[in-house]
Amino acid sequence: MAKRKGIILAGGAGTRLYPLTLTISKQLLPVFDKPMVYYPLCTLMLAEITQILIITTKEDAPLFRRLLGNGEQWGMQLSYAVQRRPAGIAEALIIAEPFLDGAPSALILGDNIFYGDGIRELLVKTNQLSTGATVLAYWVKDPERYGVVQFDANGVPVRVVEKPKDFVSNWAITGLYFFDAQAVTLAKRISPSARGELEITAVNEQYLNRKMLNVVRLGRGYAWLDAGTHEALLASSQFVHAIESRQGLKIACPEEIAFRNGFIDRGQLLFLAKQFEKTDYGAYLVRQAESDMA
Ligand code: TTP
Repeated sequence: MAKRKGIILAGGAGTRLYPLTLTISKQLLPVFDKPMVYYPLCTLMLAEITQILIITTKEDAPLFRRLLGNGEQWGMQLSYAVQRRPAGIAEALIIAEPFLDGAPSALILGDNIFYGDGIRELLVKTNQLSTGATVLAYWVKDPERYGVVQFDANGVPVRVVEKPKDFVSNWAITGLYFFDAQAVTLAKRISPSARGELEITAVNEQYLNRKMLNVVRLGRGYAWLDAGTHEALLASSQFVHAIESRQGLKIACPEEIAFRNGFIDRGQLLFLAKQFEKTDYGAYLVRQAESDMA
């Protein structure tokens, strides 16, 4: 199997965060101590994915480039593409077609934050699956806001529905999707929904119909947050702050993950730390370079 490539979908209008997002992308706003896009980026890094396409709006693309560069500093390859208007999550697969070049993909939404013990193992294991699609499901109290999945009595997924008006199940499909190489073809087959979007649920449904949709249920020990409203943005910052200040360990620090994954060496980590010399972030990187905690 060709090596899986990552896609971060970080376009969108961010209308629910106005006026914060009138002039800047939602995914560049801070979640406590780092830009939001670091969180999905680090989720893909934890899965050991090193080639990633970042899809943004035309206006925001230069800012993402300034922030993340070509990824070389973290031993990665980052490239960029533009989504002209928010025409749906599934469009990311079509935009990414030349980048994927027939490889399987992991698509993550730019405002999704995953956290929990064992997440790295789960991601690495999922990355190794070669056929079909794997999505993560999470129990939520407001499933009508999400794509949801229904299971039969044996726990086999039988239905996926986008934003169900009538109750289907509490299992929301999170914004991280692992696809085999077919996904681009399947995405091209769908038509815009009533709200005018190419729905990722329609892609998942095609995998389900072929009995090729694997659903991993994240238990209640995991956190899945999206930072799409003012309340959710503040709650995400508070969550990250609470854990980081208690442990003195960072959530979604790309320099640290690059080092621990062996994408960069100690010398490079110390070099990166220099840039942040005056901050706790910089001191943290130096501590990581000296620590042998896995
Ligand atoms: P949403 O939160 O559904 O949309 P949005 O970010 O535009 O925000 P709002 O509803 O406030 O207007 O999108 C979820 C994530 O997916 C978010 O990170 C943006 C991204 N996205 C795109 O980049 N392009 C798209 O076409 C869609 C639908 C979403």
